[in-house]
Amino acid sequence: MAPTTLTALAGEKTLQSSFVRDEDERPKVAYNQFSNEIPIISLAGIDEIHGRRAEICKKIVEACEDWGVFQVVDHGVDTNLVSDMTRLAREFFALPPEEKLRFDMSGGKKGGFIVSSHLQGEAVQDWREIVTYFSYPLRTRDYSRWPDKPEGWRAVTEQYSEKLMGLACKLLEVLSEAMGLEKEALTKACVDMDQKVVVNYYPKCPQPDLTLGLKRHTDPGTITLLLQDQVGGLQATRDGGKSWITVQPVEGAFVVNLGDHGHYLSNGRFKNADHQAVVNSNSSRLSIATFQNPAPEATVYPLKIREGEKSVLEEPITFAEMYRRKMSKDLELARLKKLAKEQ
Ligand code: SIN
Ligand code: FE2
Repeated sequence: MAPTTLTALAGEKTLQSSFVRDEDERPKVAYNQFSNEIPIISLAGIDEIHGRRAEICKKIVEACEDWGVFQVVDHGVDTNLVSDMTRLAREFFALPPEEKLRFDMSGGKKGGFIVSSHLQGEAVQDWREIVTYFSYPLRTRDYSRWPDKPEGWRAVTEQYSEKLMGLACKLLEVLSEAMGLEKEALTKACVDMDQKVVVNYYPKCPQPDLTLGLKRHTDPGTITLLLQDQVGGLQATRDGGKSWITVQPVEGAFVVNLGDHGHYLSNGRFKNADHQAVVNSNSSRLSIATFQNPAPEATVYPLKIREGEKSVLEEPITFAEMYRRKMSKDLELARLKKLAKEQ
C-alpha cells in the first residue's frame, strides 16, 4: 500500500519494498560526486543585439546539441524571489501530514500534494513527495488546488511563475533563431503555452542505493527550468544510461532541460535530456521544476527539416497524442519488465 506521506518512513532503518528498484535502475554514481561537464552559461548581456548576445546564443545552442541540458546564471530572476520560493516550499513540506493531505491529489485531481510514482499504475515508487500547480494559461489556474500555507506562498508562486515564463520564452527565442526561424517560432508552435510547476521534496532515505528519487526519464514538453538546492542529486546521461554524471549544484542557477517537444520540433537537432534524481541518507533535498509545455492541441512536427535530413516523426500529431504514446510505451516497458521478473 502506498504511503500517504514519506515523513514517517524517512526515520526507518530499511526501505519499504515498494521503493526498491531493480538492480539495473539503481544509482551508479553518488549524489555528491559532482561533474562540471554541463555548461554553466551567464545570460548577462543577452539582450544586447550588438554585444554579447551572439556569443551567449552560440553556447546555448551547442549545449542543446550536445547534452540537451545546461545551467544559466545572471538570468534576471530576482535572488530574493528565488530564495523566498525555496524557503516557503521547504516550509510546506515541513507541515504536518494532515495539512499537506488537505491538497491530496490521489484520485486524479489536477494539482496538489502526493507521494509520487513516476508512472500511474507502476509498482515501484519514487522516493519523493511533490506539490504541483498549473499556472498557465491563466484560465487554467484553480486556486482551490494551490496550497494556502505557508502564508504568503501563493503570492510568491504567482510571481515566480510569471518570471519563469519570461525566462523560458527568452531561451526559446534563442533556439528559434538558431533554427533559422523567427524569434517567436517555438512559442507560437506551443499555441497557448502551458506552465506547470512541480516542487519535489526528497526526504533523507534509509537505503538510497536501492532506490531513486525520480526514475530516469525525458521531460515531455518544450523546455524545463529546474531550481535545485545545494545538496545534489540530479543526474544526466548521454550514452543511453551506460554512464551518468551528477550535475554540480550552482547557487541561484536554473538547470535548463530540453524536452521531447523541443527535440521533435528541432528535428532531433536539440537533445531531449535523459535524466533522473538520486537521494541520500545525509540530507533532504528540494528542487522546483517549471515545465513549459505546448497546449494539448498543438501540433508536434519539425519546424524545419534541413537539406538531406528526414523527419524524426512520420506524421504531425497533437501534443496530447505524443504524450499518450509516450506514456503507453513506458507502461508497456514496465509491464514487460514485471512479466520477465515473474518468470
Ligand atoms: C525533474 O526531473 O523533474 C526533477 C529532477 C530533480 O529533482 O533534480
Ligand atoms: Fe524531469
